Parts: sequence; structure tokens; C-alpha cells
Amino acid sequence: MLSSTDRTKAIRFGGHRLRPEDIHAVTTSWLDETIHDSPAIFCRALVDPGLPITVGTATRIMTPAQISGFRHTGPHRVRPRGLAGRQHTGDNWRIIGQRLEGWRLSVRIKSIEVIGFKSLVKLKLDLPKFCCLTGLNGSGKSTVLQFIDFAAQQVRGEIDSWLRLRGWKNRDVLSKLTSARVVTFRIALEQSNNHDLLWTATFDPHSLMCVSETIQPTDTTAAQAADSPILQVTNGRYRLSKRDEQAIEFKYQGSILSGLLDNKLPSALREVKTFLRTTESLDMLTPERLRERVREARGTLGIGGRNLSAFLADAAAPNIADLTKTLRRAYPQLIDITVRSLRAGWKQLQVTEKFGEKAISTEAQHINDGTLRLLAIFAELASKHGFLVFDEIENGINPELIEMVVKSLSTAPQQVLLTTHSPMILNYLDDQQAKESVIFLYRTRNGFTQAKRLFEIPSLSEKLKVMGPGEAFADTDLQRLSEEITAIHPGEG
Ligand SMILES: Nc1ncnc2c1ncn2[C@@H]1O[C@H](COP(=O)(O)OP(=O)(O)O)[C@@H](O)[C@H]1O
Ligand SMILES: [Mg+2]
Repeated sequence: MLSSTDRTKAIRFGGHRLRPEDIHAVTTSWLDETIHDSPAIFCRALVDPGLPITVGTATRIMTPAQISGFRHTGPHRVRPRGLAGRQHTGDNWRIIGQRLEGWRLSVRIKSIEVIGFKSLVKLKLDLPKFCCLTGLNGSGKSTVLQFIDFAAQQVRGEIDSWLRLRGWKNRDVLSKLTSARVVTFRIALEQSNNHDLLWTATFDPHSLMCVSETIQPTDTTAAQAADSPILQVTNGRYRLSKRDEQAIEFKYQGSILSGLLDNKLPSALREVKTFLRTTESLDMLTPERLRERVREARGTLGIGGRNLSAFLADAAAPNIADLTKTLRRAYPQLIDITVRSLRAGWKQLQVTEKFGEKAISTEAQHINDGTLRLLAIFAELASKHGFLVFDEIENGINPELIEMVVKSLSTAPQQVLLTTHSPMILNYLDDQQAKESVIFLYRTRNGFTQAKRLFEIPSLSEKLKVMGPGEAFADTDLQRLSEEITAIHPGEG
């Protein structure tokens, strides 16, 4: 990969070359805010045509030409992994590839540890940048996705409406398998500066708040340098790094990060908050919801994808023409995707297809399920969201299109977590990626969800020597596999 310094060397601003130290701020349209001290987000902005970059007091919009100019003069060129060899110059594949080349995630989740969330009684799970969960029905795959959404919701606040949208009562977040009255979690976050952070919190479903939480660097030298911890909440008081402890005199739900203004936060916390706030968990994606008419998306596809039409209409949304090109690869008869504004601000999604010489337009209510799902997936991939989460990714998508979907997801600039029942998905991963990315979930005898890297299980690791990942998976009886593991780890069952 290029280092950020290499990349910025050749950035041009008007007629001038920019050095990193010349750059004072980047205004990101998707966040509606200016970042003064975040080179990582700046790098991300570099590959996004149309983002204003401020040098001194002047602001310029980077044009695609300036950006590609910079890329070609860069000291190295990186070929998009997985897309190499395809001839897609000028269309959306190319754009996805370019994003991959230039956009480094500023934050990602490295691991989660959950105590007392539904069947996640005591679960530790390492999350690679691309992660694929498999396992029997009821093993807890969707629950892991719900937990990710729950954690992301902590920084957005509004836990009550989140519960309502899911049709849950407060206590539904708790595990019925234990008597604990709180959910405790630890999330390790990797930052682009290599100083990892650990967010530890205890959520009380009665008050809907994290009654205690800390965010601190994981390594001790960074911890000392940064005057660790950088966030601490206990007994109704909070402390930000290098600042005195104060009483909490405002109301909020979830994490205190939801109640603190972004511009009052240290940059590391702001990045974490942004990352979590732009985490999209599409664990309830349904064609019915994707067909809904809505007025506004507020930057998210919303529960089950119900904001799709408004999400595509948003000014900050992915370029609809690029999306159309991508989808045309899947459906050659597709001509156009449009979002019409109806009376009172309702947004109506419409797709135009051509059969022979005849072009017909179809409203969302009549668009086929697969197209809607692909549209949602590729809209997310083209978005500024940091973490994308999809349940049962293969649902409703033609087998011949799965390869395109899996390749796009596994090489996405975003962190991606998905669940699948399909061995076919695994066929498009190479052995190394399958070893790292595929996690098998199972329930112990006590009903606790546990996780294990699928291809580290002895029987599967053997099979992988002679078969591809997909074949090895298809050749495996998951019920027996769960028994094999519980026999290896009897203490957990
Ligand atoms: N509050 C809870 N406490 C403990 N277990 C729960 C709770 N809610 C649901 N479950 C268990 O979680 C299982 C659902 O897991 P789920 O994540 O939907 O599985 P998968 O997506 O892998 O099919 C249910 O079978 C149920 O046994
Ligand atoms: Mg499920």
C-alpha cells in the first residue's frame, strides 16, 4: 500500500502541489463537518472527487481529473485486489478499485467480547476486515449482527426507538440463559495510526445507558503518552483525556459519546464515533422494506433497508449512474435507475428496463427482489459507511451473480461482516482468505454461542488440503461439526 505521505506528495491544489503539512482541514460532505487533525480521513477524502479541501483559508473542490492526476504520478501503483485482470476501465468496477487503492479505513473493529447479550453469554470473536459467519440455524449468527448494530446504536443514542423498530422490549437484549441484568462488552478498535483502542462498557437496559464505560489505548506506552484513559464514565461523572472529571449534567441514551458534541471530542474518539455511527447492519433486509416509500434517509438505509429510495436520492449518496453501470453487469436489460420526488417529499424508486426495442419503467413495488437486494448492497458499497453488515447475503440473488457480490464485498474499502449458509460463497475465497475470514458459530450444551475459525477445526483443516473452501464446507455435516467441537472443548459446554 502507499503510505499516506507518498500519496499526498503528488496531490495538487489549483496549480500547487500539496504537502501533508500544507493541509489544514478537510471538509467531508457526508459528515457535514470539518476535520482538522485527521490525516486518515483526509486520505479517504483524496479518493472522493467533490470533497472540498481547505488550504489556509481557501477551499477547493477536488475534481476527478486532479485526483487521477495524483494517482498516476504516485510512486507506486496498487492494483485492486481481486479485480485485477478484469477489463472494466471507466466503469464502476474501476471506481470501486480506485477507492480500495486510496481509501484506508480510519478505524475498524478488531474483536468483540460480549457478556450477556441474548445467546452471546460469553463470546469472544476476532473480526478480520472481511468476515463471514456460518453455522446451523439458531447458532447465533443474526444475534452477532444484532449485537454489532446494538453497539453502533450506543453512539447514536435513541436506544428506545432502536428497540421499538426491532419490536423488542428493553429486557430482550439480556440473555435468558443467565441472571445478569446488564450487557457488558469490550470492543477492540484498530486506528490508522496503529494505536488500538479498547472500548469497555456496561449497558443497563433499565436506564438504556452505558452506566460505566472507558475508552483507552490498548498498549501501555500509548496509554501513558495519551494520558490514559481517554474516556471514562463512572458513577454519574465523566472524564475526557487531560481534562478534569466532571458531573454528567445532561441526559443521553447509550454511550456518553452520543451526548457529547463531536467538536468537543479528542480526534481519536471522534473517529471512533464516526465509524460506529456509519456502521450499517442490514440484518433485517427484506424486499418488502426495500420497496417502502420514505421521505428521508438521513444517511442510512435504515432498518431492513426501508430508506433505499431516499438513500439513493440523497445528495451525499452514491452516484446513481455508477450504480446503474454496476447493476447492468448483472442485468444487461437495465437502462436506468431513478428516484422521483413525489408530493410531500416522498421518494419513489423506479427502474427502467429494455426488452428488444421496448423500454419499460417499473416502480419499486414491482421491481424483482434480487435487483432490490443488489441495489441495496452496491449502494452500501459505494457509500461512506465504515462497516457493512449483511445477513444471509446469498438470499434472493442468482447463483451466477454471487461471484460478483462476494468479490466486491471481500475487496471492499469498508469493513464487512456477513452471514451465509452457502458453500458457493466460500468458493470465491482463496484458501488463505477462507482460513482468516470464515467463522463457525455453534451453541454449547448450555446454549451459549461460541465461535471458532472454520478452517482451524481439525476435520476441516484436513479437507482444505485436498478441496477448495466451498467444497470442504459442502462436504461437512454442521451438526456433527458442532458435536466435534463441543467434544474438543467440553469445559465450555
Ligand atoms: N434473550 C435470549 N437469551 C438467550 N438466547 C436467546 C435469546 N434470544 C434468542 N436466543 C436464542 O438465539 C437463537 C437465535 O439465534 P440467531 O442469531 O437467530 O441464529 P442464526 O441467525 O444463526 O440462525 C434462538 O434459537 C434462541 O435460542
Ligand atoms: Mg439468522
